[in-house]
Amino acid sequence: MSLLEIKNVSHSFDYPLFKNVDFTLCEEETMSITGVSGSGKSTLMHICSTLLEPNSGHVTIFNKDIYKLPNKKLINIRREEIGIIFQTHYLFRGFSANENIELSTLMTKNEIDDELLDKLKIKKVINQKVGELSGGQQQRVSIARVLAKKPKIIFADEPTGNLDPTTANEVMKILFEYISKIKGALLLVTHDDKLASKCLYKKRLSINGLIG
Ligand SMILES: Nc1ncnc2c1ncn2[C@@H]1O[C@H](COP(=O)(O)OP(=O)(O)OP(=O)(O)O)[C@@H](O)[C@H]1O
Ligand SMILES: [Mg+2]
Repeated sequence: MSLLEIKNVSHSFDYPLFKNVDFTLCEEETMSITGVSGSGKSTLMHICSTLLEPNSGHVTIFNKDIYKLPNKKLINIRREEIGIIFQTHYLFRGFSANENIELSTLMTKNEIDDELLDKLKIKKVINQKVGELSGGQQQRVSIARVLAKKPKIIFADEPTGNLDPTTANEVMKILFEYISKIKGALLLVTHDDKLASKCLYKKRLSINGLIG
């Protein structure tokens, strides 16, 4: 079954970023997007994940052409069915790590999974305020927040950018295992070619709009 389908997607800001991007992700499939800074990786990820309507083309999630849906339905998909790990993680700084994760489980009526916190090595800091955590700890809290709502598709923009290589590997292992366990799909933006090669499909954007 196809979970995410991108058809003929093109987008420009001041200059054309990419043209006629096509791909499909089915259950248990993963794809990496690589390319130099400014080539449009985050933009493509935002388009695929309900956040930005492209200039042209179609984005289909669970067989729904998402930018044709009423806004309320689009927001429901964003809230309940997909998980977005941002390049700059948007945690609520005045809240503790636990409260940040709780917000997402409240929305989807899931429980916080203790084993997940253990695996992400954030159990010890769970009651600390986000402002008191290191960049890497904040990144792992934001990943826990996304996984806690049990999304079927994960969009991850440089999810391990703030982590040392060992922790980065552990976190990616958790993401890949999650996708395989729930038969989901992962779209991963990364600058790390080794990490990109762990994905089933690879797409490379370049500054002149070429797609590989
Ligand atoms: N909302 C916006 N309005 C205007 N231009 C934008 C907007 N968002 C992104 N851009 C421009 O589009 C280009 C691609 O940006 P994008 O964030 O997609 O790049 P990226 O490949 O993710 O880069 P990086 O590796 O640095 O994260 C950049 O030139 C950026 O300035
Ligand atoms: Mg980016």
